[in-house]
Amino acid sequence: MKPTYIDIHTHVNFSAFDNDREEVLRRAYESGVAIINVGTKEVTSQKAVEIAESHDWVYAIIGLHPVHVNPSHHDEEELGGEGKPFTSKGEDFNPEFYRALAQSKKVVGIGECGLDFYHMPDEAGRIRQEVMFKKQIELALELDLPLMLHVRNAYDEALVILREYKKTAGDKLRGDAHFFAGNTTQAQAFLDLGFYLSFTGVVTFAKQYKELVEMTPNNRIMSETDSPYVAPVPNRGKRNEPAFVRDVALKIAEIKGESTSVDFYKQLVSNAEKLFGLSF
Ligand code: NI
Repeated sequence: MKPTYIDIHTHVNFSAFDNDREEVLRRAYESGVAIINVGTKEVTSQKAVEIAESHDWVYAIIGLHPVHVNPSHHDEEELGGEGKPFTSKGEDFNPEFYRALAQSKKVVGIGECGLDFYHMPDEAGRIRQEVMFKKQIELALELDLPLMLHVRNAYDEALVILREYKKTAGDKLRGDAHFFAGNTTQAQAFLDLGFYLSFTGVVTFAKQYKELVEMTPNNRIMSETDSPYVAPVPNRGKRNEPAFVRDVALKIAEIKGESTSVDFYKQLVSNAEKLFGLSF
């Protein structure tokens, strides 16, 4: 049996799910939803692999999120009022740690990595983010894995870096721009580089994503929840979870005029199978 839906970017590895993780995973499985849990630093990457190793239809992506590169504080406003505020102490990307973790067959990518200039880090902070991003691109190329990109307020800067690597790496450099929120020119630039674009529950309540969803080809678009954040309508404001990816997939299909096409939902799953090398 194959999953009906896939949530290519979620965080059931986060402490928000400590009290009911198994129930959340079971609800996803029973709803026909496959999952990729994404790490954001060493502890959460390790946890993502542990969960993947012990569950069917669950995979892991491991890496260092740009907000965990520098010491920083993240409040509720930034997290959309749905996440708990947190303080990051700042972490280095240690390739040996992640290389060892990637021995698991359930590890299907490196990330979430990229650039996040939402807080307007100073120059030293921006440079540190770029250095950690490049280290992760290099590990992904070495291990022949796709990237899970997190980019916020820094799309043009991220494109400069990716284009540079593309020159020598070619098709080996590949990945997904998660929670895509750039403009249409930037979207086209990621597509031209061979990247996929994925969208979250915000498509169910924020109109500005319509054009981006419309312009992304059916064979390059994917669905995600980014849970515990940004729950889609009708669960907006609650803690999000992978089972809700169905509402995201339905909205993407509706925007594309594919609501009644079973093949379209199959394509969302097969796009993820292709990029991440999954086999169900
Ligand atoms: Ni995320």
